[in-house]
Amino acid sequence: MQVAIVYDSGFGHTAKQAQAVAEGVNRAPGVEAKLIAVADGDISWETLEASDAIVFGSPTYNGSVSARLKKFMEDSTRPAFLPQKWRNKIAAGFTNSGAMHGDKLNSLISMTLFAAQHGMIWVGLDMFPGHSAEEPNRVGGWLGALMLQKVNEKALRVGVVLIGVALTIGLFVKAQ
Ligand SMILES: Cc1cc2nc3c(=O)[nH]c(=O)nc-3n(C[C@H](O)[C@H](O)[C@H](O)COP(=O)(O)O)c2cc1C
Repeated sequence: MQVAIVYDSGFGHTAKQAQAVAEGVNRAPGVEAKLIAVADGDISWETLEASDAIVFGSPTYNGSVSARLKKFMEDSTRPAFLPQKWRNKIAAGFTNSGAMHGDKLNSLISMTLFAAQHGMIWVGLDMFPGHSAEEPNRVGGWLGALMLQKVNEKALRVGVVLIGVALTIGLFVKAQ
């Protein structure tokens, strides 16, 4: 199985999240993560079509996904949306921002709506909120992974690697 992680990152924080999700995905036997940074240009629509799941990641900029991730979404219209190439694939998402709340939820909602328009099946985090900065899901959301930019490195790694594992388990469950 293949899980594509499509993300944007202006200053490297979301890139770290993407790496950690990939690490989590790669821990599952028989599952391979493919990282796709939208800033690298030419999107491999073939890789996305060949993936069983697509995870979307973006920093929260001005209360929504970054302009580069939005461009990717719009660019998917012809290669993926119109022919519904991603129908029934698993989808999930992650974001981070500077403020604890920072309107991050709106970024996940944008990704969820985008996935719904593609006929995808959204998998939430399925993780209870952590109660300290050392625990995963400290920001305390369910729709996807919400991270605080200045969270300590240990919590980021533990939290996001777990998210990768959770997404992969979701993938297996839905695939059965
Ligand atoms: C243009 C811009 C808009 C931003 N808007 C928000 C925002 O709405 N809410 C927030 O909490 N942080 C906001 N931030 C802070 C970023 O979300 C935060 O620095 C994030 O970790 C950046 O991720 P990146 O390093 O992957 O680009 C903004 C930063 C920039 C540059």
